[in-house]
Amino acid sequence: MTVTEQQARAAIEVRSLCKNFGTFAAVRDVSFEVHTGEVLGFLGPNGAGKSTTMKMITGFLAPDRGQVSVAGFDVSQDPIEVKRRIGYLPEGAPAYEDMVVSDFLAFIAEIRGYSGAEKRSRVVLAIDRANLGSVAHKPVETLSKGFKRRVGLAQSILHDPPILIMDEPTDGLDPNQKHEVRELIREMTSDKAILISTHILEEVDAICDRAIIIAHGELLFDGTPQTLAAMSDLHNAVRLTFHGVPPVDAKACLCRLDVVSDVIYEKDINHLTVLPANGTSIVRQVTQLARDEGWQVGEVFVEAGQLDTVFRRITTQPDSIAKRTHP
Ligand SMILES: Nc1ncnc2c1ncn2[C@@H]1O[C@H](COP(=O)(O)OP(=O)(O)OP(=O)(O)O)[C@@H](O)[C@H]1O
Ligand SMILES: [Mg+2]
Repeated sequence: MTVTEQQARAAIEVRSLCKNFGTFAAVRDVSFEVHTGEVLGFLGPNGAGKSTTMKMITGFLAPDRGQVSVAGFDVSQDPIEVKRRIGYLPEGAPAYEDMVVSDFLAFIAEIRGYSGAEKRSRVVLAIDRANLGSVAHKPVETLSKGFKRRVGLAQSILHDPPILIMDEPTDGLDPNQKHEVRELIREMTSDKAILISTHILEEVDAICDRAIIIAHGELLFDGTPQTLAAMSDLHNAVRLTFHGVPPVDAKACLCRLDVVSDVIYEKDINHLTVLPANGTSIVRQVTQLARDEGWQVGEVFVEAGQLDTVFRRITTQPDSIAKRTHP
C-alpha cells in the first residue's frame, strides 16, 4: 500500500468483527470506522461488547473472525506498528500499584522508546495534562479511584498518539474532573481519531461527533448525536410554559393543527408539551396560534429529543426501530 493510500483510509477500520467466549457470542459481525478529527462515542448497556471490541482493536484480544486496521496496519499482521500509533486507556485503568506515579509514567515512556530529556518532558507534560501534579510522588496503590483513572489517562496520551481508544475515560471522576477530561479530549480532536466508550449520554452530546450503539454484541446504530436525538418522540416537540394555568381550550386548539399529533399537560409545572405529527419543526405554527389566541405564554422551548429514551428503545426493543448503521 502506498503512503497516499494509507492516508486516505480511515484511522480505524473495523470489519465484520466477531468474538465468542465458548458458546457465548460477545461481539457479532461489528463494522465501523473512525476518521482523524473525529470523536466516536461507543455506547451500549453493560455486557454489550464494548470493552471486548476495544480489546480487539488494540490487539489485546484476537478476534475469531473479521479484520481491524489501524492507521492502515492490520492488527493481526502488524501488531507492533498498531501499538505504536495507539494510546489505550483500558477498562479499570490497570497500573503497577506499588510504583510511584511519576516512576510509572517514566517506565511507560521508556517502553515507548523515549530517554533522557525527551522522556522527562513527556512525563511532565502527561502529569500536567492529566492533572496529576498533587499525587505525582505517591504510589499508585494509595490513590483514589479517580486519580488512578487519571494515571491511566496520562499513560495513554504520553506519546501523543494519532489514535486514542478510551474505555470509559470519565468513569469514577468527580464533576470537575469529568469536565477537565472532556475538555482535554476536545482539545486533542483535531489531529487524532478518538474512540471512547461511555454510559453518560450527555457526554455523547458534549464531545462526540458520531455515536455507535451495540447491544448483545450487535451494532444497532451508527450516526450523529443529532440523528440519535431525532429518533426521540420528543424531537421538535414544543413546550409552552404559561403564566398561571393554561387556557381551558388550549389543548383542543393545538390538537386541531395538522402538524400536531398530541398535547400533554403537565399540571405541576403549568406547561403544555406539543408533539409534532411527523417529527418536523412545528414551533412557527404553535407560536402563531398562541399569538392569535392571545395566550399568556412565558416561555417557548423546542426539544432536541431525549437520548436516554432513544438509547433504551434501541437497546431493549431493537425490532421497533429501523437499524441505522450507515451514517
Ligand atoms: N474473558 C472473557 N471470558 C468470558 N466472557 C467474557 C470475557 N470477557 C467478556 N466476556 C463477556 O462478554 C460480554 C461483553 O463484555 P464486555 O466487557 O465487552 O461488555 P461492555 O460492553 O464493555 O460492558 P460494560 O458496560 O459493563 O463495561 C459480557 O457478557 C462479558 O461477561
Ligand atoms: Mg466495558
